Amino acid sequence: MGGMQLRSTLLASTLCCVSLVAPYLQAADSAMVKRGQMLFLQCRACHDTQPSTTTKVGPNLHCLFGRSAAGAADYATYSEALRSSKVTWNRESLDQWLVNPAAMVPGTTMAFAGVPSAENRAALIAFLEQSTACN
Ligand code: HEC
Repeated sequence: MGGMQLRSTLLASTLCCVSLVAPYLQAADSAMVKRGQMLFLQCRACHDTQPSTTTKVGPNLHCLFGRSAAGAADYATYSEALRSSKVTWNRESLDQWLVNPAAMVPGTTMAFAGVPSAENRAALIAFLEQSTACN
């Protein structure tokens, strides 16, 4: 009997702490996404994250994660360098791309110096993951 009680007390205290920590993590995540959204201001002139009828200098990034590089169907002006790069977009490849696109894919036409801060890249990627999601 005593053992049961102890176990349910332990269970209750575990539940208590999980539910205290989870909203904190969520808040941290959404702060990251917000920061990424601000950082995306430097990309927005050239990219949309949702389907759009406007033509921009860069490809539309909708459904980016899991997509092969140069995979936006309605973007005709990809460089040969990106087309033949064999990159698939995920957190790791995007991190490398955002450090310095031309270092990762020599000959790319994305005229962008890169994002030197690892924290800023992580925030941008968190924002991209949310805002480019296929739905
Ligand atoms: C001056 C315009 C410009 C800016 C600013 C810019 N990009 Fe690009 N981006 C391009 C172009 C053009 C391409 C296509 C490159 C190629 O074909 O080599 C591209 C390609 C990409 C791709 C690959 C897409 C695919 O379909 O394979 C990603 C991801 C990307 N950009 C993300 C970003 C992010 C994130 C930022 C901001 C930190 C950014 N870009 C800033 C013009 C830009």
